[in-house]
Amino acid sequence: MIIKEHTSLQPYNTFGIDVKADYFIEYESIDDLKAVLNTEVAKSNPVLHIGGGSNLLFLKNYSGVILHSAIKSIEKVREDADSVFVEAGSGVEWDDFVAYCVDNGWGGVENLSLIPGEVGASAVQNIGAYGVEVQDVIEEVNAVGLQSLEARTFSNAECGYGYRNSVFKKELKGKCIITSVVFRLAKQPLFKLNYQHLEEEVLKNGEVTLHNIRKTIISVRESKLPDPKVSGNAGSFFMNPVISKESFNKLLQTYPQMPHYFVSDTEEKIPAGWLIDQCGWKGRQIGNAGVHDKQALVLVNKGGATGAEIVHLAEQIQASVKDKFGILLQPEVNYI
Ligand code: EPU
Repeated sequence: MIIKEHTSLQPYNTFGIDVKADYFIEYESIDDLKAVLNTEVAKSNPVLHIGGGSNLLFLKNYSGVILHSAIKSIEKVREDADSVFVEAGSGVEWDDFVAYCVDNGWGGVENLSLIPGEVGASAVQNIGAYGVEVQDVIEEVNAVGLQSLEARTFSNAECGYGYRNSVFKKELKGKCIITSVVFRLAKQPLFKLNYQHLEEEVLKNGEVTLHNIRKTIISVRESKLPDPKVSGNAGSFFMNPVISKESFNKLLQTYPQMPHYFVSDTEEKIPAGWLIDQCGWKGRQIGNAGVHDKQALVLVNKGGATGAEIVHLAEQIQASVKDKFGILLQPEVNYI
């Protein structure tokens, strides 16, 4: 295990907020993690486990222990006629895992190319993009109880997945640590290309193959979303709100062009980026916090922003969307 004291968290959050943690501890295996959890430091301080830091906003210094997984193995554990089952350590970079699957010709995660973060957090957050959510390919999740130190395996159903949600964000929040995830990938990929103009874009790059889908998605993301290495951000700052059909139908009368996604017979999802854009926020800046000029759902650190500045901007945006559309946007990003 590696223990650092009074260390800056700037390299560990994609917003690039410069706060410090009392302790930062990285572990390389399940045994190492158990040893960490048994240390006096971990037993007597609050513990926060982070992944790639791509969904966090630090508002102040963290008084406690920040834990990070460096479990980086990827291994095919079994297969049947249609699928391969691949176990990836929680500390594997998500996009390295996607590249590995695509290179092996295994389908299921190609639409999730270039999402920042790590494998462990993907299973907490139920990451999603371009018509696919990671819950579609998760077979099981392996975790260790923070108090009990016992290992436990969660089936997909036990993970309680919903839109950007899981049992690990609700009942089990802060109670267990994901060590690895087993994915079920298809030997004969079933391509999912019905998101907006995705199929058209893929065909511009040639035939529909896993590699071409990955290549297309990388270029779509790069054209819309800022690179966190260049300007700090955490991807979508808010979740897309799900509203009742009744409210939706009323809004549609005033805004017939409003984009929307079907959720169920009683609910519809509206892109938060569109709502924020309609309120005139795209490209605007307050202090060192800004709204990305190509995708209004992404807030960016324009240089030296504090967490408080980003939250201030987020609150202004929430207020104007509430005022214009009667919808309260919920942050997807966790405030720490
Ligand atoms: N739109 C605007 N203006 C904007 C942004 C979007 O009018 O500034 C409109 C677009 O024209 C489009 C609609 O809103 O009609 C949806 O936009 P987009 O396709 O960019 O997707 P999104 O709903 O804004 C979601 C995810 C993204 C994911 C994309 C692609 C959420 C909160 N966000 O964004 O996920 O990459 O779909 O599937 O669900 C993330 O979670 O960090 C993330 C980037």
